Amino acid sequence: MDFLFHKDPKTLHVNTLPPRAYYIPYESPEKAVAGKRENSGYFQSLCGEWGFEWFLSEKQLPDFLDNSYIPKESITVPSCWQMYLDRGYDIPHYTNIRYPFPVNPPYIPEENPCGLYCRKFTVIHPDKKVYLNFEGADSCFYLYINNNFVSYSQVSHCTSEIDITPYIKVGENDIKVLVFKWCDASYLEDQDKFRLSGIFREIYILYREEGHLTDIFIKPTLSEDFSTGRINIETDGRYRTLLYSPEGEELNSPEVKSPLLWSDETPYLYKLIIKSGNEYIPFDVGFRDIAIKERTVLINGRPVKAKGVNRHDSHPVKGYGVDTADMEKDLFIMKAHNINMVRTSHYPNDPRFYELCDKYGIYVCDEADIETHGMQLFGNWDYFTDNPEYKDAYLDRAVRMLERDKNHPSIIMWSVGNESGIGCNHKTMCEYFATRDGTRLIHSEDTTRRLSVHLKDNPEKANCPYITVDSRMYPSTHEIKHDYLENPALTKPFFLCEYSHAMGNSPGDLKDYWDLIYNYDSFFGGCVWEFCDHGVYKGKSENGAIYAYGGDFGDFPNDGEFCVDGLVYPHRRPHTGLLEYKQVIKPFWAELAGNTLKVKNLRYFKDFSDVCLEWEVTDSGKTVKQGIIDNLNISPRGEGEYFLDFDKAGLSGRAYLNVYLKSKIGLSWAKKGHELGFEQFLIGREEVEKSYTPSCFIETPDVYKCGNISVDKKTGMLCLDMLESPGEITLWRAPTDNDRYIKAEWYKAGYYDAKMSISPLGFEENTLIYGFKLINGEREILQGRITYTPYMEGVMASFDVSITPGFPELPRFGLEFKVKPQFDKATYFGLGPYESYTDKRHSCKMGLYKTTADDNFEPYIKPQENMAHAETEFIEVSNGIDKFRFEKVNKPFSFNFNRYGSKVLTNTLHNHELIKQDFVYLNIDCRQAAIGSNSCGPKANEKYRFLDENFSFSFLISDIGDGI
Ligand code: GAL
Ligand code: MG
Repeated sequence: MDFLFHKDPKTLHVNTLPPRAYYIPYESPEKAVAGKRENSGYFQSLCGEWGFEWFLSEKQLPDFLDNSYIPKESITVPSCWQMYLDRGYDIPHYTNIRYPFPVNPPYIPEENPCGLYCRKFTVIHPDKKVYLNFEGADSCFYLYINNNFVSYSQVSHCTSEIDITPYIKVGENDIKVLVFKWCDASYLEDQDKFRLSGIFREIYILYREEGHLTDIFIKPTLSEDFSTGRINIETDGRYRTLLYSPEGEELNSPEVKSPLLWSDETPYLYKLIIKSGNEYIPFDVGFRDIAIKERTVLINGRPVKAKGVNRHDSHPVKGYGVDTADMEKDLFIMKAHNINMVRTSHYPNDPRFYELCDKYGIYVCDEADIETHGMQLFGNWDYFTDNPEYKDAYLDRAVRMLERDKNHPSIIMWSVGNESGIGCNHKTMCEYFATRDGTRLIHSEDTTRRLSVHLKDNPEKANCPYITVDSRMYPSTHEIKHDYLENPALTKPFFLCEYSHAMGNSPGDLKDYWDLIYNYDSFFGGCVWEFCDHGVYKGKSENGAIYAYGGDFGDFPNDGEFCVDGLVYPHRRPHTGLLEYKQVIKPFWAELAGNTLKVKNLRYFKDFSDVCLEWEVTDSGKTVKQGIIDNLNISPRGEGEYFLDFDKAGLSGRAYLNVYLKSKIGLSWAKKGHELGFEQFLIGREEVEKSYTPSCFIETPDVYKCGNISVDKKTGMLCLDMLESPGEITLWRAPTDNDRYIKAEWYKAGYYDAKMSISPLGFEENTLIYGFKLINGEREILQGRITYTPYMEGVMASFDVSITPGFPELPRFGLEFKVKPQFDKATYFGLGPYESYTDKRHSCKMGLYKTTADDNFEPYIKPQENMAHAETEFIEVSNGIDKFRFEKVNKPFSFNFNRYGSKVLTNTLHNHELIKQDFVYLNIDCRQAAIGSNSCGPKANEKYRFLDENFSFSFLISDIGDGI
């Protein structure tokens, strides 16, 4: 047998039907309205167990078209064969930019693994036409029915439909599908993901009558003032229609007066049933208008914002084979976190994904199955995109996406693909989008980026005629503002197809982007990279799930942990970055003046009748007054003012007003009482500087002692009974993923194991003084003075620090204490309960929190700095009986409290490999470096970075005995 099609870039499909709109015919209007395709009498699923065999290359294939052939194993369809981790079928291979095979287009490796899928099926309607549908097979397939070759198809993430009527017989039939891991088109599918193979989406038969409709294009239109909607239908046969309003009322005309408009906030859908012959074909129709006016994207006339994420089809166990429950779960998480847009990075999703987006209200940027990033490494990124030889292949990908998905109101943008250079083939795709549809935005980030070379000298040239929105990934806010938003020569709205790279402890820059997005109508918003971590689940450990990333399977070349860069863990537990995003894009603003709270509704289409505002006044963590505003009565974009009945008299400096916007109703994605966001206002009086009662040190052979606090003579460092050893000055933090560039500088500067040298300078009055230096080999990183002043309340430690010019910004400056392991409970007043830093802090509130060394930890798949708490005013650490306390002096501090310490976190590759140490680590820091999103995004904004060359840091430490 010869398999030639998948090696020939000119053969895209053999014997497949022309692409058409996705729909399912039903035998009754009731079933059509219910819309469960598995219940249609015309639908026969071929999912489930198939006979299977995997081969290292086609050379090993037996004569499988011989009747005596029986596959040796079985596999579930849909699935990806590499996810059967123990069967030896190949391995999950994670690579980002580099192609997973040697680059020599159009050739693919001789050793090209393949999977042979075999099963029988019985034809249930022998009188009808029989169409076989594949919704996704990576990378291509050869189809055999009753041992005859029927068809070949490629484009992993699009549907291939094949008329198998001529090949089948009454009764039982045999079907075999041979899937190759690579085909010539794999050069066009170099998306950054685990590279997996197989029939990963559903496969089914549709039984249809002779003369059935083929393609159906539903074109809802609106009158200019949106007062009338009309449903226009383009198809190729005779039909009748039934139409139901969103409330289920039957309508008798395609013209709808005062239509309820579809939007992310109001996903009103009209149910249209097209009856043709004995088929009832349902569509969800949304009336919604997309327009661009004055560089502003308008949905239904309003300048809405894209609060988006990039989402891959991915599951820690099933790989690409996600089902509707998985997709729905993702959308529920998004909705519950105020997200309203998905870019289907970087290929069309399962067709049912868009139905769910229609239903729940999610805007979609639908992206064609194209990325050729690996060609950048060969200095010719445009190799395929600007190559007329590949025109048909590119256009095919645009056509298959648009034709399949064109009827979804959720889709507001077509994208030519990702990171594929620029050229004539993109232009052809865009022209197709414009002529065949013309109602949606047209996106190509590569084009905007490439044309950006003209921004300074000849900005008009930066306006590409065939895209309708300018899009970039990862520019800084400065660049966006100056190059795009304030560039008068540009004509298009601006969009970030990717920003705020959410890898590990990230992102820290969301608020700055959103300040800009809200300030400019021309800034449509953007999609965070990315929704989910793509770790492969390998079982459980004492530390929880074991997730593998690139390289863990011996896969080469690989990009390590770069695939775990999402807002949720692989099993969808939110990262703190998602909570940060939720708060930054919350649907309201509030301002407090005296006792009057001004509230603004940031929604465009929905009033506030479904939400209420709960408020509380807390003083030092205790709630002293609370209330609820149940009837907010604020129209979309409107404002309301409310008098909150609380009294400021008698409140301390730790008094706050917290207001929470909560849902009054239960929703599919959230329970009644779900919080949409909050605001916090400091309402306590300004604190007067604290004064302490002087005391003195008592000298012993080893230490100077004041109460239970000592200063160690040898090291000049603080010691206490509760500590295993004296504290140590520490500059190091376990690099976050966002520290991936600067960490090389940090290592080089010797921050990892800077040595301290100390010189006692004696007493000045009661204050004990030391000079100190931190040294890297011969070079002095920094030097300064430490003073310890004894008080009845404790010892005040103060550090005055000067950094030697030329050293990189510090990861942190503070003390690391090894605390006896029983002292694992902490109470603090600061920014909690989630991790907080100078920039990443918006999901946190000032408050009094209790935690433990085990709980105060975020299990990032690749361990790194986590769970600091900025703005801490005090922390008390206790074993349940005894406790000691650090209190701010002048400025609040940051702390960490866990069982690993910064070095173990630095040197462990996976969370499941972390070993709890014999003590608890407590870091008390002046501050830490920013978080930002520099793993892929720009450097953090200077205002959050630790750039001070001279600074001072003080705190009061006290042993408060059995104070509990
Ligand atoms: C972008 C790319 C994404 C992903 C990301 C890094 O450049 O479009 O697919 O690779 O970088 O996580
Ligand atoms: Mg890429």
